[in-house]
Amino acid sequence: MSKQDKIKKLIDSRAEAKMGGGEKRIKAQHDKGKLTARERVEILLDEGSFEEFDMFVTHRSTHFGMDKKKILGDGVVTGTGTIDGRVVYVFSQDFTVFGGSLSETFAQKICKVMDMAMKVGAPVIGINDSGGARIQEGVTSLAGYAEIFERNILASGVIPQISAVFGPCAGGAVYSPSLTDFVMMTEETSYMFVTGPKVVKTVTGEEISVSDLGGADVHASKSGVSHFKVEDEEEGLLLIRKLLSYLPANNLEEPPMTECDDPIDRLEGSLNEIIPENPNEPYDVKEIIHSLVDYGEFLEIHRHYAKNIVIGYARFDGMPVGVVANQPNYLAGVLDIDASRKAARFVRFCDAFNIPLITLVDVPGFLPGSNQEYGGIITHGAKLMFAYGEATVPKITITLRKSYGGAHDVMSSKQLRGDINYAWPTAEIAVMGAKGAVEVLYGKELKNIEDEQERARFISEKEEEYREYFANPYQAASLGYIDDIIEPRNSRFRIIRALQTLGTKKDVNPAKKHSNLPL
Ligand code: HXC
Repeated sequence: MSKQDKIKKLIDSRAEAKMGGGEKRIKAQHDKGKLTARERVEILLDEGSFEEFDMFVTHRSTHFGMDKKKILGDGVVTGTGTIDGRVVYVFSQDFTVFGGSLSETFAQKICKVMDMAMKVGAPVIGINDSGGARIQEGVTSLAGYAEIFERNILASGVIPQISAVFGPCAGGAVYSPSLTDFVMMTEETSYMFVTGPKVVKTVTGEEISVSDLGGADVHASKSGVSHFKVEDEEEGLLLIRKLLSYLPANNLEEPPMTECDDPIDRLEGSLNEIIPENPNEPYDVKEIIHSLVDYGEFLEIHRHYAKNIVIGYARFDGMPVGVVANQPNYLAGVLDIDASRKAARFVRFCDAFNIPLITLVDVPGFLPGSNQEYGGIITHGAKLMFAYGEATVPKITITLRKSYGGAHDVMSSKQLRGDINYAWPTAEIAVMGAKGAVEVLYGKELKNIEDEQERARFISEKEEEYREYFANPYQAASLGYIDDIIEPRNSRFRIIRALQTLGTKKDVNPAKKHSNLPL
C-alpha cells in the first residue's frame, strides 16, 4: 500500500467511525428528538477543542454472530477537550451502535478517560444513552460496569463528575450517574430505573409507565436522583458549561475567580423591607439571594426537589460560593428528610472542592410527625449537621428570621465551626416558637383556666413575653453566638468582606481513615 493509500485509509476509517451505527440509525436518533453522541460533544466543548481517543476500538465478542458485526469506536465516543478554555474529559454513549450497550471494550474506553482525568486533575462529563449491558457479552459487561463504578467512587471528592442522561439508563447502569456529583435528565427522552415497568408488573403487579416510573419529572421532583431537568439536550449541555464555571478542576485547586463590576458595597434597600411584620407570613428567599449575589445570577441545583431548602451557586465579587437557604415560601422552610439530604450532599460537595458556604437561615425547626420519624429524620437531619460540622471551607451564616431548636444548631451555627455568623434585626433565635414554648411552660396554669377568653388572653400575654425575650437576635449576640447584628441592606458588603478575610482560612479535621457519616 502506498503512503497516499495509507493516509486515505486513515481518512476513510475516521469517516466510517464518525458515522457510528450508520445513517438510518442516526436518522432514527434524530426522529426521537435526540442528538448523536458526537453532536452532543460538539455542543458541550469549546469549538474545535475535542481530541478523540480510541476511535478504532472494536469489541471482542464472538457470540451470536457478533464477530461479523464490528463498528469502529464500539458505541462510545471518548476524549478530551476544553470548556471556557479549561480541560475536561468526556464520554458520550452512542445509541446508534448496538443501542449504546456496554461491552468490555466500551467500558475500557470509559475507564481510560476517567483514569486520565484523575491523573490530570480535570472534571469528567459522561453522557448516558444506552440499552445497558451488552446482552451478547454476558458477564464481561457486568465487570465493565463495576470497573467504572470503582473509578467513580475513587474520583469522588477529587475531580467533579457530571452525568447527563439523554436516553435510556436502566438496571445497574443507573449507578454510575448516581455515584457522580450532578445528574441531569432531559424531559420526554430520558429515563432511569433499576427495574423497568415490565419487571415491576411481574414482581409486584404494579402497572406504571416508563415516565411515571423513572422520567425526568419523577427524578427531579420526587426521588431527587436528578439535580437538573432540562427541556432539551442543547439546554442541558450549555447548563453543564455554566455549572463548571463555578467549580475548580480538582480538589487541590481554588474555584475560578472572575472579573466583577457589580459594586461590592451595593446597598439593597429592598432587603430592609422584605421580612414581613407577621412572623408566620412567607416570603421568597430566592429574592434575597438574587439581590445579594453578583449581577443577581444564581444557578439553582435541585430546583424541583425539597423546595423548602434552596441550594445553588453564585458569586460574590467574582468568587464562587455555594448558597444554602431555608425557603419560607414552601412548608415554612422546615427541615425534613428530603431537605436535609439535599443540603447535606451539597455542603459536602462544596467542602470537598474548596467552595465557601453562605447559609441564609429562616427555619422553624424539623418537620414533626410519624412519617418523618419512621423515615429516619433523626439520621437524615444528622447528615446535614455532620456535613456542616465537618466542613472546613469558609462558612458565613446570616440568620434572617427564625432559627429554632435543633435546626438552629444544624444550619451552620457558630458551634459547628461557623466562621462568621451574622443576624438581621428581624432574627428570632430560640429553643422553639412562642406558641409551643407557652404550652410547655404554662401547661399546668392553662389546665386551670376554664374561661376561653381568659385563656386566650393568658396565652397571648405569655407568648408576647416570650417573644420579647427570645424573638430577637440580642440574646444570642450577647453570648457571642452571633458575631454581629447587621442592617439587611448592607449584607452583600458584609459577606464579601468576610469572604476576603477568610480567604486564608486554615482548618483541619482529626486524622482518620474516613468519618462515619450517618448514612
Ligand atoms: C445489545 C442492544 C441492547 C443491549 C439495545 N440493543 N439494547 N444490543 N445489548 N442491551 C440494540 C437493539 O438490538 C437494536 O439493535 C438497537 O440496539 C436499538 O434498540 P431498539 O430496541 O430498536 O431501540 P428502542 O426501541 O429505542 O428501545 C431501547 C431500549 C431497548 C428500551 C433500551 O432496546 C431495550 O429494552 N433494550 C434492552 C435493555 C436491557 O434489558 N438491557 C440489559 C439490562 S441489564 P438493531 O440492530 O436492531 O438496531 C443491565 C445490567 C447492568 O444493564 C448491570 C450493571 C451492574
